[in-house]
Amino acid sequence: MRPTIAEINLSNLKYNYKNIRKKNSNVGVIAVVKADAYGHGAIQVAKTLNETDTPPEYLGVAFDNEAIELINNGIKNQIILFEPLSEFNIKNVLRYKLIPTLFTQQHLELLKKYSRKKIKIQIDVDTGMGRLGVPREDAFDFILKAANQKNIIIDGIYTHFSTSDEKNKNYANEQLSRFISLIEKLKMNGINFGKAHAANSGAILDMPESYFDLIRPGVSLYGNYPSTETSESIKLKPVMKIVSAVSTIRWFEAGDYVSYGRRFQVKKRTQIVSVPMGYADGYSRGLTNKARAIIKNKFYPQVGTVTMDRIMFDVGEDKIKLGDKVVLLGKEKRKEISNFEWCEILKTIPYEITCNISKRVPRVYVR
Ligand SMILES: Cc1ncc(COP(=O)(O)O)c(C=O)c1O
Repeated sequence: MRPTIAEINLSNLKYNYKNIRKKNSNVGVIAVVKADAYGHGAIQVAKTLNETDTPPEYLGVAFDNEAIELINNGIKNQIILFEPLSEFNIKNVLRYKLIPTLFTQQHLELLKKYSRKKIKIQIDVDTGMGRLGVPREDAFDFILKAANQKNIIIDGIYTHFSTSDEKNKNYANEQLSRFISLIEKLKMNGINFGKAHAANSGAILDMPESYFDLIRPGVSLYGNYPSTETSESIKLKPVMKIVSAVSTIRWFEAGDYVSYGRRFQVKKRTQIVSVPMGYADGYSRGLTNKARAIIKNKFYPQVGTVTMDRIMFDVGEDKIKLGDKVVLLGKEKRKEISNFEWCEILKTIPYEITCNISKRVPRVYVR
């Protein structure tokens, strides 16, 4: 077996979860574990959160198959699907008692057609995200209609922020006040809408007035701030670390090239080591000639095009042996290659980095 692993630190996961809870202990949590818990392993993540004194009230996933995987592995929390109800998922929604998201007339009709029994639903309100949800102008009427439909229990209503991870919170606050107006109108009219929720990680960090009854942390659970613009009002520790080992060492002469496309030329006689991880594992080709690794407490530059299964590092004349530990992402003693370091190179967000670590990289759970 090759030595490349994604080490998932479950103590750090618990640390993050507890700190998120501590920030406002009066509200419940929908732990967002979609996309295999952003690449960390949804089953292990859910089990670990359930070991705490205050397990999440709900888990949030995008799709029904993600929920079924959790249920088949003994996870008992209520599960909310962010994906809208459809002909594709309704049978599983009913069979597995998932809580679907509804926001159109067709969704209401689907439920009439398929279910005589009462089922819990969530309603997504688009206050400005511009993706899913009932447009805010139609939200009151839609919720009223849903509340009057016999087979429906409205378990909650929610909205999603598009810019809560930005420094400038004007637009997020605008979305928030639209959501608050709706809630006030529903209350004034005595319409039961269950629990309200809005806050993703950016809002959990910086917009306590958006907490309502539940919060929906995703990226922060896994120890990453959603962007470099939010505050760090909650202490977080990264949960994923990518580790491998030196698998080949060879001296290269000045003028020699390394890897596809001759994108790196050796300037002075040096040792080039190779490490068994590549773009098929989620070590993006965009990191070519820009990333670095930690070997024996020292940084070394990645050189030559990142290939499907292998990457190379220039270790100079240092004494490096076959099998020496290589940290590609994460912290080792005082040195760290942070998720944001990759984000900066790849012009992306921390979410994409961990989601992209492919299934070929075994997750090894440590406490
Ligand atoms: C509806 C919904 N709520 C909450 C989250 C969690 O967001 P974050 O990972 O920024 O905390 C997501 C993730 O994108 C989402 O789609």
